[in-house]
Amino acid sequence: MKPWQPDQLTIDDGPPHNGERVVIDDLRLLREQFVDFMLGYKFAIDEVTTKIDILREDFNNAHEYNPIEHVRSRLKSPESVLEKVRRKNYAMNLAAIRENVLDIAGVRVVCSFISDIDTIRAMLVGQEDITVLEERDYITHRKPNGYQSLHLIVSIPVFRSDRTERIPVEIQIRTIAMDFWASLEHKIYYKYRGEVPPNLRSDLAQAAEVATQLDEKMEALHRQVDRGPQPKRGAVDSLDLSVLYNSLTAAHPVHLRPGDLPT
Ligand code: GTP
Ligand code: MG
Repeated sequence: MKPWQPDQLTIDDGPPHNGERVVIDDLRLLREQFVDFMLGYKFAIDEVTTKIDILREDFNNAHEYNPIEHVRSRLKSPESVLEKVRRKNYAMNLAAIRENVLDIAGVRVVCSFISDIDTIRAMLVGQEDITVLEERDYITHRKPNGYQSLHLIVSIPVFRSDRTERIPVEIQIRTIAMDFWASLEHKIYYKYRGEVPPNLRSDLAQAAEVATQLDEKMEALHRQVDRGPQPKRGAVDSLDLSVLYNSLTAAHPVHLRPGDLPT
């Protein structure tokens, strides 16, 4: 099947034929509603990735350490959303899709160390506007094939021009080693259309074991070098800023009075 395109349903270029006009108008309306529905998920991805960008920058500023290696996101195509609804036998309406298909918006956070996963999880789920709908810990309980990752389904409010929607987003958090393993396994799974030969399956399981050992070793090394004092941020409102003021005015000696910003 070709990817679904918004224009695909526009088939009425000629003069209207009685009954057909109604069908085409219905299709147009459906298409518009579906595009609008999907847009909410795109905004939800934008919100979650902005949250993660802020956490990355703020954590780095506070601890001089960045727990996030990279972030990827994807919006499920309309075609695969509808395919999943049909495959899972859900009702074919937007309310049922909102309730049942929870991975339309997906964000993957890849970090260096196993301990970063909990750090990122805690920073996200602690936010007031985030509600955790589901959590699957495939790290404590690795899947039989070797897959490891922490999956959160959260819902966040998206403020549209005329309403507020709560949109579910699937967030996967994993280490570089877990991610490396998962992307290879994914390719192999598709190459063999789900029927992975036993020798490859056992090689993959072994590779997952090696990935876990690497993660544990790296975590131990990380702990050894990370024992120094951590910079702490506390209540800073009452700090006397005159030293900072003096150093700024020394660097920019002209025309600075308290309250002015150096240019
Ligand atoms: P879906 O019906 O596909 O949504 O699965 P689910 O609702 O049972 O959720 P689950 O948490 O098991 O998987 C969701 C996503 O995690 C998948 O779409 C993949 O991105 C990833 N995933 C889960 N299991 C595996 C696996 O064995 N291998 C790889 N490579 N990825 C996996
Ligand atoms: Mg899913």
